[in-house]
Amino acid sequence: MKRYALITGASAGIGKEFAYQLAESGWNLLLIARREESLKEISEDLITKYGIDARYYIADLSEELQPQKIYDFCNREKLNIAMLVNNAGYGVPGDFEKSDWKTHKDSLQVMLNSVVELCHLFYPQMLENEYGRIINVASLAGFAPPTAGHTLYGATKSFLIRFSHSLNLEGKDKGVHVTALCPGFTYTEFHDVNGTRQMVSQLPKFMWMKSKDVVKQGIIAVEKNQPVKVNGKINRTIAAMSSALPDWVTRALFAGKTNKYRKR
Ligand SMILES: NC(=O)c1ccc[n+]([C@@H]2O[C@H](COP(=O)([O-])OP(=O)(O)OC[C@H]3O[C@@H](n4cnc5c(N)ncnc54)[C@H](OP(=O)(O)O)[C@@H]3O)[C@@H](O)[C@H]2O)c1
Repeated sequence: MKRYALITGASAGIGKEFAYQLAESGWNLLLIARREESLKEISEDLITKYGIDARYYIADLSEELQPQKIYDFCNREKLNIAMLVNNAGYGVPGDFEKSDWKTHKDSLQVMLNSVVELCHLFYPQMLENEYGRIINVASLAGFAPPTAGHTLYGATKSFLIRFSHSLNLEGKDKGVHVTALCPGFTYTEFHDVNGTRQMVSQLPKFMWMKSKDVVKQGIIAVEKNQPVKVNGKINRTIAAMSSALPDWVTRALFAGKTNKYRKR
């Protein structure tokens, strides 16, 4: 069976960039997102440019049954998923009580439950094949001190970092590499979708990275079997400070700054 990389959230931003870089290095692809037009256009372009097989599957990952449906589709189509990039995600702006429960529940389903379930579905066959690569796209927010607004986002990403690290330890001598990729501010559609573009555009340019660099570093990290990869020196410094310093110190250092770009 031919090897495929499955990428969630492949219709835009970091996921789309993963599709292009993995196709360039010869991976066949299964692209997943809700926007059919984008996925169709991207997969056709990748087939023409790189001569790989690129399929797409339309799924709203807030629907609980989607991970199992995706897994069943791969089995039916005999796609050997040897790489899984759990990337789909978004932020829910505002304080906790300002969004209804469905909004929060959907975001947890997309960024937490579906990630863990897709790992649980595809990881065993990677172990059996003694080869697998899993990248869970977390965030610097998983290390940074808690903020008011976007209440669940940082917590979700912290979970992903811990979960990926544990799975990395379990798979490390068995040919399965697992990495939590932790970008900081990255130029994508993310801040347009959550309505904070104007606020975050006040941040200095040096705080921003291109998705091209984020993805390149992510692919290198998973090949090296690094459990956690924080992108960029500045972000690594923030993550290191957040881990090393007492909570009250990091909160005092960052609170005033983060309030400027968190919608309440
Ligand atoms: N950009 C940043 O500054 C930044 C920083 C740190 C971490 N991240 C993380 O990076 C990941 C990718 O984000 P991005 O910056 O590339 O954002 P983006 O450009 O907005 O792309 C998000 C992707 O997720 C997909 N998606 C959203 N909801 C979905 C759903 N319910 N079902 C299926 N797919 C869904 C979108 O596709 P459809 O709309 O077509 O479904 C899109 O392909 C996220 O996990 C995000 O948390 C981003």
